Order: sequence, then C-alpha cells, then structure tokens
Amino acid sequence: MKKVFVVKMQNEDVDEVYDIESLIHPNHHWSKDSFYNELSNNLSSYYCLKDENGKILSYIGLWRIFEEAHITTLGVHPDFRGLQLAQILLIQIVELCYQEMIKYITLEVRESNVPAISLYEKFLFETIGMRKNYYQDNGENAIIMFTQNIWYDKFKNNFAQLKNGINKVLVSYDE
Ligand SMILES: CC(C)(COP(=O)(O)OP(=O)(O)OC[C@H]1O[C@@H](n2cnc3c(N)ncnc32)[C@H](O)[C@@H]1OP(=O)(O)O)[C@@H](O)C(=O)NCCC(=O)NCCS
Repeated sequence: MKKVFVVKMQNEDVDEVYDIESLIHPNHHWSKDSFYNELSNNLSSYYCLKDENGKILSYIGLWRIFEEAHITTLGVHPDFRGLQLAQILLIQIVELCYQEMIKYITLEVRESNVPAISLYEKFLFETIGMRKNYYQDNGENAIIMFTQNIWYDKFKNNFAQLKNGINKVLVSYDE
C-alpha cells in the first residue's frame, strides 16, 4: 500500500507545489510569491502530502481568524486522485482546528466544482451563500460553505467515521 507523509509546507516545497497548482489551474493559478507570502504569515497553516521519495502529491492551506478557519487552497495532483489524499489533508486541518479551539471552518468553491463540493459535503460543510461573479477568469459564482460548530457531536461523530475510513494509503505524520 502506498505510504504518504503529512508535512508542513516549507519554502523549498513551493516550486513543486506551484507546478501542481499550475497543472490543476492552467489559467488562474496562484503565483509562487502568493505561496511564499502565505508561508510567512502567522495566521496561515499550510501542509503537503509527500510520498516515500519526497514527491509532493497534494497540498492544503488555511487562515485562522479568531474562532474561524478559512481554507484557502486545496489541490491533489491529477495522477493521484481518488486515493483519499484530499480527505487526509482535510482531516489534518480539522485536527489543527481542534488544537486551536476553532469552532467553524469555511471556504469558497466554484459552483461548477462538483468533486470539491461533494468532498466538503462529506465533511458536513453546508452551503450558506453565494458570491456572484467571484472568479475573475470566467466570472463564475463562488459558493460559500461553512461547517456547523465542529465541537458538536454530529460533526465529531462524522469526523471520527471519516478518519476510520482512510484505508487506501498508509498515513504518517512528519512533525
Ligand atoms: C477535489 C479534489 C481536491 C479531490 O481530491 P481527491 O484526493 O481525489 O479526493 P478523495 O479521494 O479524498 O475523495 C474524497 C471525496 O471527494 C469527492 N470526490 C472526489 N473526486 C470526485 C469526483 N471526480 N466526482 C465526484 N466527487 C468526487 C467524493 O465525495 C469523495 O468521496 P468518495 O470517494 O467516498 O466518493 C481534487 O479533485 C482536486 O485537486 N481538484 C482540483 C482542485 C480543486 O478543485 N480544489 C478544491 C478547490 S475549493
């Protein structure tokens, strides 16, 4: 079974993350400087998943603002989709939110992005609104999604099930 490592994103990871980001979003991706800026921001937390050879497979980022966390980016290399890598990174983010006493997690997603919306719904995110013409490249609307309070039993029980259901790769944590 493939082994993956959850690691904090470092400056030296940015070139590889940027390559995946530009592969996923050819016309509207973040710049390398955006990632460098995020890594130097105290309110940000960024993680990568690497394989045994140190190759980056996916990445995620969030801002922590008082009792809320805002997911800023999430990408999985197209060759490694369907392996629960996005779920593993979301689990990492939720665990961090528990450590930091955060109550709600939010994000914006393109309304056409069915895979991502389905992923977030698995984690009990709900649509609470829309930002019209939010994305500059094509004027697409953004859906605003929020969790309920992550300390409520419903969220916690679902989260525990999702963690137990990770069985397609072996996960290690590299502190
Ligand atoms: C969305 C994305 C992050 C999913 O990554 P992934 O590692 O393949 O996802 P996982 O294997 O962890 O799948 C988790 C869940 O996501 C949903 N999902 C993933 N791919 C899907 C697809 N092609 N169609 C529908 N739902 C999908 C499902 O709910 C899935 O759960 P299931 O396997 O029990 O059905 C990935 O497709 C990606 O990087 N897309 C481009 C970038 C992007 O959209 N980022 C999110 C921006 S907000």
